[in-house]
Amino acid sequence: MHKSLIQAATIAALLMLSSNAWGQKSWDAPKLVTSYCAGCHGVDGNTSLPYFPKLAGLDAAYAEKKMTAFREPDGPPVDEAFWWALKVAGSKKGAQNVTREERMNMEGVAHAETPEQLKGAVAWYAAQTPPKGHSSNKALIVRGQHIFVNGVPEQKVLACATCHGPDAAGKGTAPRLAGQNAEYLVDQLEKFSRGDRRHAPEMTMVTRDLDPDQARAAAAYLQSR
Ligand code: HEC
Ligand code: HEC
Repeated sequence: MHKSLIQAATIAALLMLSSNAWGQKSWDAPKLVTSYCAGCHGVDGNTSLPYFPKLAGLDAAYAEKKMTAFREPDGPPVDEAFWWALKVAGSKKGAQNVTREERMNMEGVAHAETPEQLKGAVAWYAAQTPPKGHSSNKALIVRGQHIFVNGVPEQKVLACATCHGPDAAGKGTAPRLAGQNAEYLVDQLEKFSRGDRRHAPEMTMVTRDLDPDQARAAAAYLQSR
């Protein structure tokens, strides 16, 4: 298990090496980042793999809190993106024949480092240039912007901007969302609505009445910022 994960991450890292133009100062990155995290998130935190979160400019305190949650034995479950990544990287084991415990274990392995090392890694990502927005369906973006700015009062969905900031750059405990991969955002919104992401009562409340189309619209808008 451990071995195949390391292989998967290494292969993924090699893929990134050949396809990703690193920032000029990538040699300054902590070793943990270049040897490990980069396999999935990129050295500059701007991975173009759609189901993986971009980490560039992500608040370090938020990221650390999230890492702590990942490290808990009963932490947030791994989603399909993780399995997709392993599949892409050539792992033979499919998502179906894996138990919940094994999935937890995987997440544990992926994020099992000392708190100090993780602190260094998230601080590196926090200091990288935040992702540039990239556009998609224009009508969807316009609809998403409306939801972001105003919420959906008739469904009691609060305006995202109130907590995430008018530019979605993050505010207080609410993380940066601007430029994030839409697929990742939609996935997370689904998780919140299922109650799969703990430590986030605000988002459980926000997503309770947000329908999937609205979630996709909000994600398209955020990706475009
Ligand atoms: C094998 C692939 C893989 C590796 C290696 C990996 N991650 Fe992740 N990471 C993911 C995936 C997939 C997610 C999204 C999980 C989810 O859906 O909740 C994630 C989520 C995160 C998040 C939460 C992002 C957010 O916006 O909430 C942070 C922070 C993070 N990773 C940091 C790291 C750091 C630091 C390392 C290196 C120590 C690392 N990751 C190594 C795949 C990986
Ligand atoms: C009442 C405050 C509040 C409102 C309103 C709110 N959020 Fe959040 N949001 C948060 C907080 C706090 C977190 C961090 C949760 C955590 O620590 O895991 C978060 C996290 C998220 C995440 C996870 C990001 C990641 O990197 O994994 C997404 C996606 C998100 N919010 C989208 C939205 C959208 C879309 C809306 C509007 C429909 C919205 N939020 C409205 C407070 C809010």
